[in-house]
Amino acid sequence: MLSRISRLGARLLREARTETIAGNLHSSRGSLYQAHVSRHSTPLVSSTVLSLRNRLFSTGTSSGDQDESSQEKEKITVTFVNKDGSEQTISVPVGMSMLEAAHENDIELEGACEGSLACSTCHVIVMDVNYYNKLEEPTDEENDMLDLAFGLTETSRLGCQVIAKPELDGMRLALPAATRNFAVDGYVPKPH
Ligand code: FES
Repeated sequence: MLSRISRLGARLLREARTETIAGNLHSSRGSLYQAHVSRHSTPLVSSTVLSLRNRLFSTGTSSGDQDESSQEKEKITVTFVNKDGSEQTISVPVGMSMLEAAHENDIELEGACEGSLACSTCHVIVMDVNYYNKLEEPTDEENDMLDLAFGLTETSRLGCQVIAKPELDGMRLALPAATRNFAVDGYVPKPH
């Protein structure tokens, strides 16, 4: 009976030891695996986390900055030189015509037909030929109207056809001394 008990005790002890070794092995494997994962994956994981964090936290600010700077870029500065020689420098959003910009800023540019190429009262003179060359070519309709404008020059354009674009930043436009308003003059241009 005693020997049976001692055999049982020895067996229990063996099993307990085996379990401990297996447990240790498992846990050391676990740490080995963790070490492997952390050694190989940490830079990737950290960079992903970093980029996610940057996107999360900086998106608002950077897109806000971009919005602000693109809004600034979307406006150009144009100077109108009035008939009396006084100057008005205004900010014109890209895409807006010089006629609209002049009206928004109380500049005396008539625009009797409101940009439908049926008058020449929006006649402006581009003061620098370099800027003139940056403009889109005038259409035949615009040239026809310009032919009827008072004080036509080599760099004359119709203000309603000059559209603000970034390359025109700093342009100077002179208002001619007189304009012909067909509606008032009763003048109807002959069709060509
Ligand atoms: Fe009439 Fe420009 S406003 S042609």
